Amino acid sequence: MKTGDTVVYLDGSFVPQREAAVSPLDRGFMFADGVYEVIRSYRGSLFEEAAHIERLHRSLREIRIDKGAANGLEEIFPELLDRSGLAGSEALIYVQITRGAAPRTHQFPAVKAAPTVYAHAVPFDPPLEQRDRGIPVILVPDTRWSRCDIKSISLLPNILARQMAEDAGAGEAVFVRDGVVTEGATSTFCAVLSGTVVTHPESNVVLPGITKRIVFDLCSRTGIPVAERPFREEELPRAAEMMLLSTTREIMPVISVDGMDVGGGTPGSLTRKLQAAFSAVIRSV
Ligand code: PDD
Repeated sequence: MKTGDTVVYLDGSFVPQREAAVSPLDRGFMFADGVYEVIRSYRGSLFEEAAHIERLHRSLREIRIDKGAANGLEEIFPELLDRSGLAGSEALIYVQITRGAAPRTHQFPAVKAAPTVYAHAVPFDPPLEQRDRGIPVILVPDTRWSRCDIKSISLLPNILARQMAEDAGAGEAVFVRDGVVTEGATSTFCAVLSGTVVTHPESNVVLPGITKRIVFDLCSRTGIPVAERPFREEELPRAAEMMLLSTTREIMPVISVDGMDVGGGTPGSLTRKLQAAFSAVIRSV
């Protein structure tokens, strides 16, 4: 199927992508005044859909868009998959809600605009080889704002960081804020320190990851110690293993940081154990 032939959802209708039109005055276009979610479909089943919708509601609340804008998405998503020819396949759903189109003012529009609700589904080719071998990452200064808990479409620092990783031949950029490791540009970052899986606690400087919640539950169930505490860049050299967690990467082993090998440059046993446990969860959805 050519890109333009794919069907997308926009403001109440399913339309061919090439016919989907958003106003240039849309505040998403003008200001990145909106929020989004990425949801994985395994063979047509949306993974952790309720958690993604809940996080979307939270993001909307935090930027003061009525959460009613997200009404009906649970019915829209399966239809979107179906109309995209992806009802039984591996796919990703992207959904974005902006404050809508209105004359350009920084403050909210004087006359309330209808939020723009957009979604599309794309086939997804899981990064199996990378998940098997692991990927290198680089550390970059966390130049983002102080509300990274909101899944905002304003992603310029993340884009620049990911490109820096790309330029360095790495698979992800990991942010460091005032010496503290926060998260990946598009993922949650975990280090295994003294046998404990450690990640930054949920706060204004990280996105509350849904994959992280699943993985930490798996750790608890399999007796792997976990800690959500800030940890510093200086602690990384003594990490036995490192992982990135996200909807698209699931559990991605990190095998080097800024060119320095992690765990001898191969994924560690704890990472492997968690990958196996995660795969079992996926098989059962
Ligand atoms: N990114 N942190 C950031 C900054 C992210 O962008 C993401 C996900 C995560 C992991 O969240 P989750 O496990 O809920 O996917 C953490 C998505 C996949 C994206 O932007 O494409």
